[in-house]
Amino acid sequence: MKVGSLHGLRGKRLLLILVVICTLFLIWEWEKTPHPVNFIPSPDTTYLPPPVAHKTHTCEHATTEEEDFPVADDFWHAMSEREKQPFGVPSKGHKTTSSLKVTEVKKDVIVVAPLGKKVAGPSRYSMTEKAEQVLNVPPKDSAATSSVNTTEVDKNLKATSLEKKECNYGKGKWIDDDRRPLYSGFGCKQWLSMMWACRLTTRTDFSYEKYRWQPEGCEIQEFEGTEFLKRMQDKTIAFVGDSLGRQQFQSLMCMVTGGRENPEVEDVGIEFGFSKGDKRPSGWAYRFPKTRTTILYYWSSTLCELEPLNLSDPATGYAMHLDRPAAFLKQNLHRFDVLVLNTGHHWNRGKLIANRWEFYVGGVPNTNRRLREMGRAKNLTIHTVIKWLDSQLPQHPKLKAFLRSISPRHFFHGEWNTGGSCDNTSPLAHGYEVLQDASADFVAAAAVSGTRVKLLDITALSHLRDEGHISRYGFKASEGVHDCLHWCLPGIPDTWNEILAAQI
Ligand SMILES: *[C@@H]1O[C@H](CO)[C@@H](O)[C@H](O)[C@H]1NC(C)=O
Ligand SMILES: *[C@@H]1O[C@H](CO)[C@@H](O)[C@H](O)[C@H]1NC(C)=O
Ligand SMILES: *[C@@H]1O[C@H](CO)[C@@H](O)[C@H](O)[C@H]1NC(C)=O
Repeated sequence: MKVGSLHGLRGKRLLLILVVICTLFLIWEWEKTPHPVNFIPSPDTTYLPPPVAHKTHTCEHATTEEEDFPVADDFWHAMSEREKQPFGVPSKGHKTTSSLKVTEVKKDVIVVAPLGKKVAGPSRYSMTEKAEQVLNVPPKDSAATSSVNTTEVDKNLKATSLEKKECNYGKGKWIDDDRRPLYSGFGCKQWLSMMWACRLTTRTDFSYEKYRWQPEGCEIQEFEGTEFLKRMQDKTIAFVGDSLGRQQFQSLMCMVTGGRENPEVEDVGIEFGFSKGDKRPSGWAYRFPKTRTTILYYWSSTLCELEPLNLSDPATGYAMHLDRPAAFLKQNLHRFDVLVLNTGHHWNRGKLIANRWEFYVGGVPNTNRRLREMGRAKNLTIHTVIKWLDSQLPQHPKLKAFLRSISPRHFFHGEWNTGGSCDNTSPLAHGYEVLQDASADFVAAAAVSGTRVKLLDITALSHLRDEGHISRYGFKASEGVHDCLHWCLPGIPDTWNEILAAQI
């Protein structure tokens, strides 16, 4: 009896979905809009990353300066090809009034979001209701009056929502908020690099500072520096990665202090082997004496171990051990309570040549042809590091480990070294919402999957913020070279830290 009624239910559900598909198709045909209704079969496949184009790089000019813009890796090159339709959100100039986009198919309820301009919170949902009427989908609360016995459905829904207790912070929307930014871009001189403080440049538009990320279905508590420090009493927060990781580190220092001068804060770099005398320090570490909270950043752009090949040669090359985590991680893991890793933009031929890095696997020079491809080498290292980290977590139960997904770059009409630019100044011109469940950084997501390492998924939400880069306003910008990789601070990396604080 029970099985029979379930079958009937499933049949009805299927029928309903079929009807909706047909209706969608009819609407599409009828409207003849320039972009078709984008039907997405299931939440798991809502965003399929573009195929990685495995092409060979030519030797591109590059320097060892970390602030230089690395050339695109294959993934982001492929991404920029798709830039016109990022994440299925319409690009500027498209008709936006009547187009609908199916964003999610959850059980029998199809959620539809309007395409187009930013809509303040509640009106999105009223639009959704309208859409449901258009599509003849019964509103949720009328389900009781329909012929379907909803008891079973409710039970199922409850079960799924219990399983889904953990919030997907990467899915949601940007909303404007006058309480942003969390610190002034004229301040925070103690920690904020001048090259990233856009308020100190000739830039005149700062509307990008005024947004807050609202994840779908969960709240992020308003960030408060003193409260955060209390919560992090006696704890050490470590960022390890490339210059984008350093941006997140500086952002957190500014958020915690509210951008105010704080002479009490101690420089404890020496405890982690960071020498102040170095022309280019390998890291920075600071301690807030009242709560004994330490926040540090270590420069490791690839996360793998680098070993000089000839110690007596000042211009030595380095073995880049693709299958070994950076030595710093191994040596210091026991001292961390929170660890945020990132890598991505240094995996290109130019950086390899400029730094004289040579791929090593299993302790010997790499002979595997497939691994000569940057994407595969990067993937091997990310998987190795995460697997190692996961294996260490039982011995470090207090440690919360995160892999931050890749920070998107936005070079339009060229690359960093061929006149690429990011001139948009109007926020959210390409959409304001992330609708897909899966991370847009499939390499990072795959690496943490099945491990205790968490994903700090900021790729898709940052992808909507192309106006937040340094752009043409960098201090060191040479003619025609724009920074569409790093972000203005205050700015987008502050949001990464808000999400991090929520995930901790
Ligand atoms: C709905 O299904 C439940 C469990 O299968 C059953 O106990 C209940 O009597 C049904 N209600 C109606 C109105 O058919
Ligand atoms: C290491 O570098 C030194 C100094 O450049 C050089 O004299 C020596 O031959 C190198 N050793 C090897 C094994 O290449
Ligand atoms: C990345 O590496 C993992 C583990 O070695 C492998 O299973 C996966 O297929 C690789 N992915 C790509 C895109 O190469």
